[in-house]
Amino acid sequence: MSLLTVHHIGYLVKKIEKAKDAFLSLGFQVEQDTLRDEIRKVDICFLLKDGYRIELVSPYAGDSVVSGLMKRYKNSPYHICYETADFEAAFADLTANGYIAIDTPTPAPALDGRDVVFLSSAVLGMIELIRP
Ligand code: NI
Repeated sequence: MSLLTVHHIGYLVKKIEKAKDAFLSLGFQVEQDTLRDEIRKVDICFLLKDGYRIELVSPYAGDSVVSGLMKRYKNSPYHICYETADFEAAFADLTANGYIAIDTPTPAPALDGRDVVFLSSAVLGMIELIRP
């Protein structure tokens, strides 16, 4: 398996500004303030604490990519994003190890346009892979 490093933990929230304030009260700092991802119809911001990065993700439309997940999970962590030096090799390794791609690599505006892809594992649920 390719070497993977954790980039962030994705955290689904209904109200992003209230959630951000709550995380700030816990000692997190804003790394990147709220941006709208019109491809996925979600608002996103990044927070940091103690070397941990959390991505708040909040749907702003009923047909966002996470609207179905929101119904199931409410406010909850829901994916871990991994970074790797060789995106194609890591993607191939993951799919060879039972991970199933949920979408195709697509630019993420909140991540400087870097490609991300989501994969699902029967054992671990959803993960995200980000292109360097
Ligand atoms: Ni993410």
